[in-house]
Amino acid sequence: MPTKSEYQELIRKIQEYDYAYHVLSEPLVSDEDYDRQYQILKAVEKSQPEWVAPYSPTQRVAGSVAAGFQSFQHKEQMLSLENAFGREDIQKFWQRVSNKSPSSPTMVCEPKLDGLAISLHYEKGLLVKGITRGDGLVGEDITQNIKTIKQIPLKLSGEDVPDYLECRGEVFIKKSDFLTLNEQLQKQGLKTFANARNAAAGSLRQHDSRITSTRPLSFFCYWVNGEGLADSHHTRLQQAESWSLPVNTIRKLAKSLDEVLNIIKSITQMRPDLAYQIDGIVIKCDSIEIQKLLGHTSKLPRWACAYKFPAQKAETEVKAIDIQVGRTGAITPVAKLLPIMVDGAVISNVSLHNFSELARKDVRVGDWVVIQRAGDVIPEIVSVVKEKRKPNCIAFKQPSHCPSCRTALVRPDDQIVWRCPNSTSCPEQVKGMIRHFVSRHAMNIDGLGERIIVQLITAGLVKDISDLYALQFSQLQAMPRFASKSAHNLIASLHASKQTTLARLLYALGIREVGVQTAKLLAKHYTSWQALAKATEEDLSKLPDIGPIAAQSLVSYFQSEAHIDILEKLDAYGICPKVEQTEVIVDGPLVNKKIVITGKFSRSRSEISAILQNLGAEMLTSVTKNTDICIVGEDAGSKKKKAENLGLEVWSSEDLSLFLQENKK
Ligand code: IVH
Repeated sequence: MPTKSEYQELIRKIQEYDYAYHVLSEPLVSDEDYDRQYQILKAVEKSQPEWVAPYSPTQRVAGSVAAGFQSFQHKEQMLSLENAFGREDIQKFWQRVSNKSPSSPTMVCEPKLDGLAISLHYEKGLLVKGITRGDGLVGEDITQNIKTIKQIPLKLSGEDVPDYLECRGEVFIKKSDFLTLNEQLQKQGLKTFANARNAAAGSLRQHDSRITSTRPLSFFCYWVNGEGLADSHHTRLQQAESWSLPVNTIRKLAKSLDEVLNIIKSITQMRPDLAYQIDGIVIKCDSIEIQKLLGHTSKLPRWACAYKFPAQKAETEVKAIDIQVGRTGAITPVAKLLPIMVDGAVISNVSLHNFSELARKDVRVGDWVVIQRAGDVIPEIVSVVKEKRKPNCIAFKQPSHCPSCRTALVRPDDQIVWRCPNSTSCPEQVKGMIRHFVSRHAMNIDGLGERIIVQLITAGLVKDISDLYALQFSQLQAMPRFASKSAHNLIASLHASKQTTLARLLYALGIREVGVQTAKLLAKHYTSWQALAKATEEDLSKLPDIGPIAAQSLVSYFQSEAHIDILEKLDAYGICPKVEQTEVIVDGPLVNKKIVITGKFSRSRSEISAILQNLGAEMLTSVTKNTDICIVGEDAGSKKKKAENLGLEVWSSEDLSLFLQENKK
């Protein structure tokens, strides 16, 4: 049996192997050798549990599942970055820094990694906390998951390690690791990730660190702070590196604007060959003293900016044009593409929105198309490469009937969108409705994924949402690939969902134009769905924030006998919330924020409102002194003026994109 100091020496050796393998990519020992020494370490710890050091490599994975993450207030706000899109923006930034600098400034240029920001706290060299960025002020304690990332040292080594050190950086997944991860998930029949950033985010927020440990997460530190650190950002990164923190080796000093622009050019050229996805180049003022002089706005430092790459374009082939039927019957043509990687995401489906759009772009099966995607923006078909069109390629013929239930399609009031009117028994619509009904902000029912919903509909067990509550354990268990534990959990989850609020139920019904916020508002004014069902368009239009379209949609929903039938069945199963408990989404960064949105944006305001509501915001239509944030798009008029006069927080569309980018769920 080794002595305690031999045990500690073994830890040190394994740490060195980990650093060489995961950070330097220069293994010191063979895999077998590594495994052998790791097993010895485990055996020693088993026989001498009192020796186990918190920084031992065996401590990276906890054996239990965390119930939730605790909030943690950042010592110093975690800021975002101002975007720069071209020479002019960068020149302005250079000028701003120059104005505060006694001599010509020095900048540090680094790749902008496309992942998630985290903050690590080291006390006496030991990793004590790992926190997500959250809203920049308060994050979540994900220490146990962070510890599973082998590149992140549990204990700093090297000389003059400060007593206390905060390191901020990006957790990301390398391009090749992302592809392999998705392949593995697909083989296991699990849901794949749309892009590497989502995969990294999903992996970091696992409640079971054993799952996180199987994900190929990488990390680069891009900021450190602590006592006795140098006054230069570049030197601080070198110091961090000397303490075994992984730092990107691509970091370049620039002493003039031209040098900055040349570095941007050279990093842009490297971009396709980099192992990881980058979406821009961060330019930072090197002097910490000048950084402090420049300070920051409420969200952005004035001493740094991010040059963002223009949208990436790519060409691929249209393999098919599918017709999707949404839960409200909306028909959407979707181009199925030969899968292609654009801006870090594998793109295989692109929505063509509606038949007019499809006809305008004249997209045909067999065509080669140019697709475009920038960062988080939904990919789109820019144009058809007409030169590559084969002579026998025929124009797309718009279907006259629903592909799911064969009902003739209609286009109410000459709207742009065609619909399947069979809202109660079209299988695709029923599937969509159930998916919505069980979702988190609706009835929050676990264990009903897409596959199971399809199974239930196909088996004829579920024809509408109320049928879910008639499901029996024995019926579920008899279904293929349905374990008894899953069957039990589903029945329990269905049962638990009966104790719900009126707002949740109203939202869950999937009434057009009724989002989380509208449902809450309705539940405040009506004590039951029966009372709401009696309301006229006029009554409803009197409520603040219910427009004529929502009022009309509500009235027509409750006019349908089939809908009343479903609601009565739900009532009979015990889902009859009558007295409203006020409820708030408690886990969003915009909880308690009253937001008004005005002007034009690249996507519809209702789409943006829905996203913000999901982050906890309360969306209002008029600006008052109680409004927290006014988001202004192009051509914003009186509301913008009023918000400015009242001194409210005003966000531009860029601020909004930045915020959404930072708060992707
Ligand atoms: S510095 C105060 N450096 O970009 C400066 N950020 O859009 C804080 N990011 O939240 C950030 N690579 O997650 C910095 N080399 C880099 C970066 C980087 C990626 C991310 C980071 C930040 C976001 C801002």
